[in-house]
Amino acid sequence: MSPDPVSIPVSFESDRSERSYEVIVGESLLPLLGKRTLEALGNPAPGKASLIADDRVPADFVQSARKSLTDAGFEVTLLKITALETNKTPETVTRLLTQITESRADRSDPVIALGGGITGDIAGFVSATYKRGVPFIQCPTTLLAMVDASVGGKTGVNLATSTGLKKNIVGAFWQPRLVLADLQTLASLPARVFRAGLGECLKHALLWRTFTDERPQVASLLKADLQTLNAAMARRPDWVLPLVASSVRIKAAVVRADEREESSDPARSRAILNLGHTFAHAIETLPGIRLPDTTTGNETGPAIHHGEAVFLGLIAASATGAYLGLLATKHVETIRQAVEFLGMPTRIENLPDDETILEAMGHDKKASAGRLRLILPVAEEGEPLGRCTIVDDPARDAVAAGLRALRAGD
Ligand SMILES: NC(=O)c1ccc[n+]([C@@H]2O[C@H](COP(=O)([O-])OP(=O)(O)OC[C@H]3O[C@@H](n4cnc5c(N)ncnc54)[C@H](O)[C@@H]3O)[C@@H](O)[C@H]2O)c1
Repeated sequence: MSPDPVSIPVSFESDRSERSYEVIVGESLLPLLGKRTLEALGNPAPGKASLIADDRVPADFVQSARKSLTDAGFEVTLLKITALETNKTPETVTRLLTQITESRADRSDPVIALGGGITGDIAGFVSATYKRGVPFIQCPTTLLAMVDASVGGKTGVNLATSTGLKKNIVGAFWQPRLVLADLQTLASLPARVFRAGLGECLKHALLWRTFTDERPQVASLLKADLQTLNAAMARRPDWVLPLVASSVRIKAAVVRADEREESSDPARSRAILNLGHTFAHAIETLPGIRLPDTTTGNETGPAIHHGEAVFLGLIAASATGAYLGLLATKHVETIRQAVEFLGMPTRIENLPDDETILEAMGHDKKASAGRLRLILPVAEEGEPLGRCTIVDDPARDAVAAGLRALRAGD
């Protein structure tokens, strides 16, 4: 039997009534997109809707979303994008803005993203900038986008510079008016992309205690038992729904406390969501880093996915935490085992020297005035995992210890 959909409210302390929205997680939700969009916009007379869809999302889902919007009275313009980091650029944004302008969409007409995190980040930035901001609806179709990218209002694109691709360097905070996560769209995800999404889930399993006392389903990923693995890999709705819902609740709690990442209080700062990410952003932007594809066999797989880089970033962050005495060695091993258990390589063959990686880490948006900021897990031996802290300007040796944990052959 299909589990009932779950609705998670996301609201902001500064402005609760104006900018709160629902994240709805469940099955067969796309056929309700039109009706739900109208409700989220306060039931206006439907006008135009710009549906920005990833061209790898199966046609049935795109058709279902489009039909639902049309049935609700919207005049739909379908805009396709190819979800690649190299397409997540101002050029793609310009193309979409031009097409939306040519469709004569109004300030009250919604932009709707149907796709993974790349689609959501691009479509979100388009909606934040078209006519100085139009309503935005997220329909995430990857696990990563459901548990992370679609919630919290960060939108943006990458910039190609003379020193490489700078991730998410151009963007805006622009909250969606509704997030509709239809779990059926996960069925067509390649195994590797699904697993990459578990990287952000594991991140949530390592920081939930900062924001709630109630042990979430997502923490079960640290157990590394066969039952968890089977349920995860089979994408069983009765397991995926609470996993996604518990992850969204954690993300919602973090962004509610610090919407724009302005707090310097480690117990409330949105920055803690960057756990593992400063390492991850460096790893995924270094030229030539590739991972063996453990889902299809052995050969060199495609370039690294963001979620895969996050898994590796969590390993590096835990080793750095242990070096600084913040995390018991036993927990470093638990985290490494969980990563391995979920089918991810825990080491990289061709990682460049520390200097090159430190240089790339220094370009991360979270570094300011040349100072590195790391979010690291914290737990003593007898304490459960789930808490982390902010460390500014970590000693170079501590970062090197994190990188050493990733080097194959060490
Ligand atoms: N805004 C935020 O807060 C935030 C948070 C985390 C990550 N991100 C961003 O999200 C991006 C990564 O997101 P992602 O992992 O979803 O990647 P993605 O959007 O590239 O999707 C991964 C792959 O899956 C394909 N795909 C998507 N849905 C599918 C479906 N239902 N069936 C078959 N194929 C499908 C895509 O075409 C792509 O090839 C990165 O750019 C990252 O920076 C943003």
